[in-house]
Amino acid sequence: MIRIPKGCKDMLPAEAHIWQAIEDEARTAAELYGFKEIRTPVFEHTELFLRGVGDTTDIVNKEMYTFLDKGGRSITLRPEGTAGVARAFVENGLQGGTLPFKAYYLISAFRYERPQAGRLREFHQFGAELYGAASPSADAEAILLAARFLNGLGLGDDVTLHLNSIGCKQCRARYSEALRDYFRPHIGEMCEDCRARFEKNPLRILDCKNDACRKYTADAPSMLDYLCDDCRAHFETLKELLTAAGVKFVVDPRIVRGLDYYSRTVFEFTTDLIGAQSTVLGGGRYDGLLEQMDAKPTPAVGFAAGIERLILALQALDAPFADRVPDIYIAGMDAQSRRRGLLLAEELRGRGYVVVCDLMERSLKAQFKYADKLYASFVITIGESELEEGAAEVRNMFGSTSERVKFEDIAQYIKNYRRN
Ligand code: HAM
Repeated sequence: MIRIPKGCKDMLPAEAHIWQAIEDEARTAAELYGFKEIRTPVFEHTELFLRGVGDTTDIVNKEMYTFLDKGGRSITLRPEGTAGVARAFVENGLQGGTLPFKAYYLISAFRYERPQAGRLREFHQFGAELYGAASPSADAEAILLAARFLNGLGLGDDVTLHLNSIGCKQCRARYSEALRDYFRPHIGEMCEDCRARFEKNPLRILDCKNDACRKYTADAPSMLDYLCDDCRAHFETLKELLTAAGVKFVVDPRIVRGLDYYSRTVFEFTTDLIGAQSTVLGGGRYDGLLEQMDAKPTPAVGFAAGIERLILALQALDAPFADRVPDIYIAGMDAQSRRRGLLLAEELRGRGYVVVCDLMERSLKAQFKYADKLYASFVITIGESELEEGAAEVRNMFGSTSERVKFEDIAQYIKNYRRN
């Protein structure tokens, strides 16, 4: 038997209601802030991610699913959603349209990572991107949307917002130099990745999970001491807005994020509920990305949440999710009554009821057992005598009452019963 590829997971019908509840919450929250859905391709030209995500990142260096298509083009399955949305924004001429542009997405993404709990090779994200607004209130809006989404899922008390500023090109250059000065005496003892980061992007050293490197990162200088006046003012205003809006956060100078496109604000929501892969949502401002893609510079801010990690967190909390169960099960005894049942089911579905019929030609006893398992509210039984009479036996499975009801009155009967 061929098995599922490593690092992938099936979403089975029994879990569908959890996925749908998260997606509903995402849509509801995003639309409250005026965001509209965007869908972009699952694959893009590899070049987009080299430029968009950045060639010093683990994602680009180690984790992309890249292949040549039959036309010899280098194609990559998207490792995240931001680069594709940025491309679509520019390519569709939306830079010249009404700003700010606000879009959200529910997508699958692909990274060739070492799988573990909460880390998959195919995973899903809810993300939101906002283009055109440079003000701290845009950062605040992205974070408020993220917080509202997590609160709506019932995770509000179990997540912590970590907030940082990594400055702009100018102040980050000064900070990078300070980091190089700090790490230079130790770099020989640090991992191969950090040695490469030392030259290209020393901030990423702060993100290294290697114990040998962590020993040195703990006392590294903080970006916050190097912010220029404008970046500092931006960060102060953002903190003030979040505080006024009642959003709790911790300033965490070690948050640098694993993608190269960020500037100024970066943030992550983490939880203690799910082990090592504890970041359920991450994002930040990325004012330089569009320019990096050879488009007109446009300020931008956004975030993405990992849906599988949210599910793990909700399962750890034993969070209840409403699952839609059948309103009605229709039991039949022979070909004629099943035929009548099928027609009745269609009529009732037309009125919005969830109706399940016997397709397995089981005994009546087995059908009742099955209806019970499905938690159906009503069981309608049709047999020879019911067909002759033009009426069916309607049993309420919770009250355990049963009545004979004319076929043409069944819909009204169920409606009245429910109202009472
Ligand atoms: P990211 O931090 O790479 O950011 O991913 C966002 C979230 O996706 C993570 O916090 C995590 O919950 C989830 N995630 C990432 N990788 C995996 C994986 N291998 N398995 C399961 N879940 C995973 C981005 O992707 C940026 N595009 C976010 C953003 C949008 N920044 C600005 N706009």
